[in-house]
Amino acid sequence: MSYTVTVRPSNRTFTVEPGENLLQGALRNGVPFPYGCRDGACGTCKGKVLAGQVDRGQYSPRALGAAEINAGQALFCQSQVLSDLVVEVAEVGAIAGIPIRRLPAKVESITRANHDVMVVKLRLPANQRLQFLAGQYIDFLLKNGERRSYSIANSPHNDEFIELHIRKIAAGTFSDYVFNELKEKAILRIEGPHGSFFLRDASPRPIILMAGGTGFAPVKSLVEEALYRGIDRPMYCYWGVRSRRDFYSDLPVQWAQRNALQFVPVLSDPLPEDHWQGRTGLVHETILEDFPDLSGYDVYACGAPAMVYTGRDAFINHGLISENCFSDAFEFQHPGGDKTSA
Ligand code: FES
Repeated sequence: MSYTVTVRPSNRTFTVEPGENLLQGALRNGVPFPYGCRDGACGTCKGKVLAGQVDRGQYSPRALGAAEINAGQALFCQSQVLSDLVVEVAEVGAIAGIPIRRLPAKVESITRANHDVMVVKLRLPANQRLQFLAGQYIDFLLKNGERRSYSIANSPHNDEFIELHIRKIAAGTFSDYVFNELKEKAILRIEGPHGSFFLRDASPRPIILMAGGTGFAPVKSLVEEALYRGIDRPMYCYWGVRSRRDFYSDLPVQWAQRNALQFVPVLSDPLPEDHWQGRTGLVHETILEDFPDLSGYDVYACGAPAMVYTGRDAFINHGLISENCFSDAFEFQHPGGDKTSA
């Protein structure tokens, strides 16, 4: 049975069909609900059920707490609709009208960037371009019905190829495939763009970018987009990895040399041979050492969930307004899971 959903405050309505969750129904109808992992883990899709019934499904308690449930909130990516609904959610105008498409994509190049990261460039069919916002991601649609999600590392103005940074993950079936079998000219199926992690360019606030590992991929997209569009807000890029060999791009150094931003590399476990003179420790703690009051900033955080969620909580404790914290946590909850590339 299908149900009608009314969205406040926009008063849009759409229909959820049997077998769809609330987020799927919204996206199929072009209603721009916010979302990230689609897995009940990140909390980005949270909204309030003002009237009607949903089954909240399965989710991480970190993403939806008891107090929030008592206040009527739900994760719309996990919510099964049980009646007509009225919901309240902050729609994301910028993703409205960007179609989510399924396309074949040919592997243009595979380049080993360091000991555990491959840079893969995909070419779409002739005359096809993927419309997306800097920071969004795509899914690979695998033959067995599973998906693997990767952030797009190029920016929309430079869209001849789709660039992905794929990290080798222990027992990660897809990353194993990429590292051991994938060849140029292979055809893969993709779906996208997805997610509501993107550059908010209406904000006047300085930008702090926090990347962990291959969380650098969407950060690269955001920075290239900001530079292309001449956004002149101060930008600070923090990239945290374990040891020196985990850095796989010198682009941030180049950006800093051009005075486009300030770059702070951070090692959590430097090796003796690194001879590291720079910052050490957890990347979010490094940011807090430099910015103990974050009330006037926008923060974009991307990488492993522990880094993103710990950082987000700590930043909010240091004055960051939660609406000004944008995050993309690389979850590993999909079956066989390599969700994105932390
Ligand atoms: S929890 Fe729903 S999109 Fe992440």
